Amino acid sequence: MINVWVTGSKGQLGQEIKNNLKKGNSNFLFTSKKDIDITNKEDVERFIKLNKIKVIINCAAYTNVDDAEKNTELAFRVNSDGVLKLVQCCKKLNSKLIHISTDFIFNSISNKPINENKIPNPICIYAKSKYNGEQHILNSSIDAIIIRSSWIYSEFGKNFLKTIIKISNKKKYISVIDDQIGTPTYADDLAKICIIFVKRYKKIKGQNIFNYSNLGECSWYDFAIEIKKNANLKCFIKPIKTQDFNSLAKRPRYSVLDKRKIEKELGIKIPFWKDSLKNCIKKII
Ligand SMILES: NC(=O)c1ccc[n+]([C@@H]2O[C@H](COP(=O)([O-])OP(=O)(O)OC[C@H]3O[C@@H](n4cnc5c(N)ncnc54)[C@H](OP(=O)(O)O)[C@@H]3O)[C@@H](O)[C@H]2O)c1
Repeated sequence: MINVWVTGSKGQLGQEIKNNLKKGNSNFLFTSKKDIDITNKEDVERFIKLNKIKVIINCAAYTNVDDAEKNTELAFRVNSDGVLKLVQCCKKLNSKLIHISTDFIFNSISNKPINENKIPNPICIYAKSKYNGEQHILNSSIDAIIIRSSWIYSEFGKNFLKTIIKISNKKKYISVIDDQIGTPTYADDLAKICIIFVKRYKKIKGQNIFNYSNLGECSWYDFAIEIKKNANLKCFIKPIKTQDFNSLAKRPRYSVLDKRKIEKELGIKIPFWKDSLKNCIKKII
């Protein structure tokens, strides 16, 4: 059994990975930001050495997309420099890296799902910092996988699903954008994918990118309507346009990911977004 290190363990994905492991999976070690800050190279190196880590799943990130516009330095420190530190330690100590990236690095003008070969075009600070993080991996010689995902939600942490449920208790009307199209991803489904990659870690050679989200596509408005239906919310959800919503960061208009590569590689059937959403809501309420 190899030792696996999950960073950012208090986040949505980190907690779902923990939740998915059977009791007794003591070879998985979880650290939160308090335990190990991934931007501290000495701590990262010490942890890998001490625990003989063979695979790192990097769930640590600065994920507040709007705040990143103001906290640019911090977003780059975590999402770019932090990844570089992990890469340097992986290289020195011969560990493999599973890193999570985002659909936000794209800003497609077509309505065709985006495959792994498409050239990114990040349009906000968060996206630029995540793109830089990817580049550190792709320009290295370590064995690594980058999983690009989108619109992640979970019963843990902060996310769109929990925000809609929370606001619906306070407001009669909620305005939600209907002209940004993507795919929600239940972190529980993504966690299972990370665990599958760990089980076949010997096949992680060189650097490889895979897209993973749930199946299908929708707008944030469609997503909210589906939440309302399944969580039995009483509020009225009103569709609005991006230009009418006051957000600091620019977001992609279309960022649906093409998942054929990962389906073929792992031989998996990806759950449809509405089915996964239903499962998550059942756990929340
Ligand atoms: N959320 C989405 O919609 C989405 C979509 C596509 C891709 N992704 C990517 O998927 C991954 C997992 O996302 P998530 O939704 O699980 O994120 P999350 O819930 O925000 O969790 C990220 C965790 O990283 C921790 N962290 C921040 N800075 C750190 C540092 N310097 N060292 C160690 N830990 C640090 C955070 O701690 P604090 O909370 O204490 O700062 C938080 O617990 C990230 O790489 C994210 O960019 C997310």
